[in-house]
Amino acid sequence: MGYVDVVLGLQWGDEGKGRIVHYLSRDYDLVVRFQGGANAGHTVYIGGQKYVLHLIPTGILHDDVKVAIGAGVVVDPEVLKDEINFLNEMGIDVNGRWFVDPRATIVFPFHKKEDALFERKDGIGSTKRGIAPAYRDLYQRFGVRVGDIVNNKHLDRVLKKQLEFNNIILKHFGEKEIVEDDIKEWLLGFREFLAPVLRDVSLLVKDYISTGKRVLLEGAQGALLDVFFGNYPYVTSSHTVTGGALVGAGFGKEVVRRVYGVFKAYTTRVGKGPFPTELNDDTGEKIAELGEEYGATTGRRRRVGWLDIPLLRYSMWLCGVTHPLMTKLDVLEGLHMVKLATSYRINGGVYDVVTPTLYELEKVEPLYETFGPFEGIKNARKREEFAPEVKRYISKIEELIGMPVEGISTGKESDLI
Ligand code: IMP
Ligand code: MG
Repeated sequence: MGYVDVVLGLQWGDEGKGRIVHYLSRDYDLVVRFQGGANAGHTVYIGGQKYVLHLIPTGILHDDVKVAIGAGVVVDPEVLKDEINFLNEMGIDVNGRWFVDPRATIVFPFHKKEDALFERKDGIGSTKRGIAPAYRDLYQRFGVRVGDIVNNKHLDRVLKKQLEFNNIILKHFGEKEIVEDDIKEWLLGFREFLAPVLRDVSLLVKDYISTGKRVLLEGAQGALLDVFFGNYPYVTSSHTVTGGALVGAGFGKEVVRRVYGVFKAYTTRVGKGPFPTELNDDTGEKIAELGEEYGATTGRRRRVGWLDIPLLRYSMWLCGVTHPLMTKLDVLEGLHMVKLATSYRINGGVYDVVTPTLYELEKVEPLYETFGPFEGIKNARKREEFAPEVKRYISKIEELIGMPVEGISTGKESDLI
């Protein structure tokens, strides 16, 4: 029997999942995205060349790996087509190597427009990729799904309902209404592109593991952006935890072997929402510059702060992490002082794990332990070569999360150590 392993982000996204999935995926046969959409930006460096992928799983960068987009994903066909073209131009042969579940939901251009319109006044910092409006229409049960492009009768029925609703919104904002024939023409323009790759991804995973193959699930965003468990409403509109992986790709828990939880050696967040360990000083500025903390999707400067153990503990619990992985430790190289939030003070009490709800996070005071100087990271080939304070930092994290950190990344293209 084969198995499924899952890679998830444990913070607010941008933990370096793309890089980790690329690193791990040489040992897998199939890599699957299960939630979110083109709001994700997964960056991989190969031989100095930068690849940023928003929809196609980063496993595609290995020739002998196949990739799939599961039913839980919202698919912007324009982005998907651009991405496939980009990969072809880069000399990567994608032919016969990528599949899309017919039940994945279509993101229309008007979804993106609405995302921007809702964002204009008191928004939550959305990437404006149409994610929330597309999921909203799905749950309203007039979502158009990718497979509908080969089923005209069904398409007409849902599209009519979807437009009826979306035109009310567009009209409210004084925008031009959508004409059914135009949008249908736009969608069917992708029929030739998408029809050959439609595949039941749930059964594809079943076929793979029943023939002894290995499947890797590539999460997007992070556990603290989960629509149920993040700091609602400052969340994304999908399930970013292990449960979301099972639901979005389509299988039960028996086939899951490992859950890799990826976290950065510090913390970042894009968009609005509480951030207890945020740094609004020169150190934060320095980490942002060294870590190139600019959104891969929106180019926005990410907010930066120290590693937050109470939140990390919560997201590890949410995801059932078996293998924690730490990324970007090298970014902290050269800092004289690095802080680690080990617990929170809330109303006079001290807590070592905390519910990441808006209410609680806004009134917490992180309690820190201090480490430094941080040296000997970038050139280290094994952890023994780290400076003593770096080793103490890692040991402290391991002690606080209650398990060893399975791998640490110390450079864009380096192996995990
Ligand atoms: P949306 O998913 O575009 O609706 O954005 C909702 C929130 O999630 C905003 O705060 C975004 O900045 C954040 N977000 C969405 N996708 C990502 C991601 O891939 N990395 C980091 N933050 C993200
Ligand atoms: Mg990203």
